[in-house]
Amino acid sequence: ETKKKSGYEILTLTSWLLKQEQAGVIDAELTIVLSSISMACKQIASLVQRAVNIQGEDQKKLDVVSNEVFSNCLKSSGRTGIIASEEEDVPVAVEESYSGNYIVVFDPLDGSSNIDAAVSTGSIFGIYSPNDECLAEIEDDSTLDKVEQRCVINVCQPGSNLLAAGYCMYSSSVIFVLTIGKGVFSFTLDPMYGEFVLTQESIQIPKSGKIYSFNEGNYQLWDDKLKKYIDDLKDPGPSGKPYSARYIGSLVGDFHRTLLYGGIYGYPRDKKSKNGKLRLLYECAPMSFIAEQAGGKGSDGHQRVLDIKPEEIHQRVPLYIGSVEEVEKLEKFLA
Ligand code: AHG
Ligand code: MN
Ligand code: MN
Ligand code: MN
Repeated sequence: ETKKKSGYEILTLTSWLLKQEQAGVIDAELTIVLSSISMACKQIASLVQRAVNIQGEDQKKLDVVSNEVFSNCLKSSGRTGIIASEEEDVPVAVEESYSGNYIVVFDPLDGSSNIDAAVSTGSIFGIYSPNDECLAEIEDDSTLDKVEQRCVINVCQPGSNLLAAGYCMYSSSVIFVLTIGKGVFSFTLDPMYGEFVLTQESIQIPKSGKIYSFNEGNYQLWDDKLKKYIDDLKDPGPSGKPYSARYIGSLVGDFHRTLLYGGIYGYPRDKKSKNGKLRLLYECAPMSFIAEQAGGKGSDGHQRVLDIKPEEIHQRVPLYIGSVEEVEKLEKFLA
């Protein structure tokens, strides 16, 4: 439904999704999955806002609760076949009677270490079609049984297969950012009537931006080529102005600022973690799909993140994401 207010049309996420369905961009099933995800995000937003627990209450960690909220919303949508979460060791097949086709991968609460300080957190998700033609890969002698193997094969798809990806940022306002393959759209939660309202269409990330977002605490552990790149950003140069450093320690918060202001976010590999910290399936690939849909880039330093096929659902990859000129500059230093 569109609500008339002071002369301009308010489009809710629900009505925007129905428009996309009427235009044939998505089918009715995907519309239902996306609606159930937005429902989960509204519930998590309210949990995060109430995160300060009454003393003594034996609270489950909020990322575990958020995982239950996300899983329950997806299962009750009746359109989801398999879900893979940062908080689950293996992918979960939704029981037959209730299952649909879509594969949903998600990080139910990203930046969870920030919760107690009321710093921005988020949820990240990606949606795939089933990958059943690869079921030939099922091995008889695998340690996993046939169902588990089918789940892993269906979930471990390259990001280039994503049908939709998005995140919800829980910050001074609750912002739902979504792409269904035709640009990036943002919706802001209006607490007055608990609906996400369209706020930005076809977001374009600036081609360049003098903001870099890295955890420099790891500087001594980085490769020399990366150190040279970071040193170059700090060189005031002829303009007399070096890059600005901004790091929230929450991928969703750092990415959202990069999407709107430009710049680069990086989580490099280092001597401690040889593939970096972020997970390909439910952090790097969905964010890279959004970045590319907004005219930006998502790289592991040498190749497009969306071209990497996960071998294991919690596989980590280095991530450099943001303005195309900034990511390409980084890639030149690492070549
Ligand atoms: P999560 O809370 O889902 O485990 O993810 C946390 C990630 C990401 O949000 C953030 O950018 C990064 O961890 C911060 O890591 P450092 O504290 O090592 O910088
Ligand atoms: Mn995360
Ligand atoms: Mn998480
Ligand atoms: Mn975590």
